[in-house]
Amino acid sequence: MRNKNALVTGGSRGIGRAIAERLAADGATVVLTYANDEAAARETVERITKDGGRAHALHAELGRHGDAAALWAAYDALGLDGVDIIVNNAGIGLPVPLGQVAEEDFDRVFAVNVRAPFFVVQEALGRLRDGGRVVNISSGAARIAMPEILAYGATKGALDTLTLNLAKALGPRGITVNSVAPGIVDTDVNAGWLRGNAEAEAHAASLAALGRVGRPEDIADVVGFLASDDARWVTGRVVDATGGAGL
Ligand SMILES: NC(=O)c1ccc[n+]([C@@H]2O[C@H](COP(=O)([O-])OP(=O)(O)OC[C@H]3O[C@@H](n4cnc5c(N)ncnc54)[C@H](OP(=O)(O)O)[C@@H]3O)[C@@H](O)[C@H]2O)c1
Repeated sequence: MRNKNALVTGGSRGIGRAIAERLAADGATVVLTYANDEAAARETVERITKDGGRAHALHAELGRHGDAAALWAAYDALGLDGVDIIVNNAGIGLPVPLGQVAEEDFDRVFAVNVRAPFFVVQEALGRLRDGGRVVNISSGAARIAMPEILAYGATKGALDTLTLNLAKALGPRGITVNSVAPGIVDTDVNAGWLRGNAEAEAHAASLAALGRVGRPEDIADVVGFLASDDARWVTGRVVDATGGAGL
């Protein structure tokens, strides 16, 4: 991926950090964004540069009007010539059952998980080079009914439909668009109930046919493949990376 530029939203921590590190290891110049945790973003950049890679961190709060335009304005200020790979990874959860979902929380989770990826790509149209790649980080929750997180699951279903349509829209330019759907991955978002709780971990592991909790690298390696030339003939798909959950 020498001479390729990659944008990874939410690339400062968790799955996004692993994706940023993987794409940088493959030779891409990586621009990773964060919303709040500047220290984590700096640390990710340092980890990449220490390994001989190229990375920049950008502050980009997603989920409000004008977010995508502001992100790309900051990207342009870095002086990079266009973008080849866009990974819409930044996302938030909403672990609330039907009866307790507040309207503002519903709007917020859709704004971050669906509206932001939509406009990140729309704003990128003039910057994304032909032959480029878009990878949207979805979730197994779009395929497997999980009423305890149903509004979140609906965002990922919408994101997968966006993937489908973007693939058709951008195909004539040789741009592929795919979703990657993780199952339960050991990141900060799950730390509260998963880390240090052997019973919870055993339960989470039992949900995957492969019998363990996912690691950020499990997802990053799939994204690395989809972003590579090897995946040039794959578009409009949801690639399940749940370790075989709900089979
Ligand atoms: N972990 C799982 O089990 C799992 C399973 C299926 C799908 N996923 C999906 O995978 C993606 C990454 O999840 P993760 O577990 O790695 O999450 P995470 O550890 O919570 O990291 C989230 C990343 O997104 C950024 N972010 C959060 N809210 C943002 C906002 N409003 N605007 C801009 N950036 C924002 C964070 O930046 P700051 O640190 O600066 O806030 C951070 O870089 C998400 O789309 C998630 O839905 C995760």
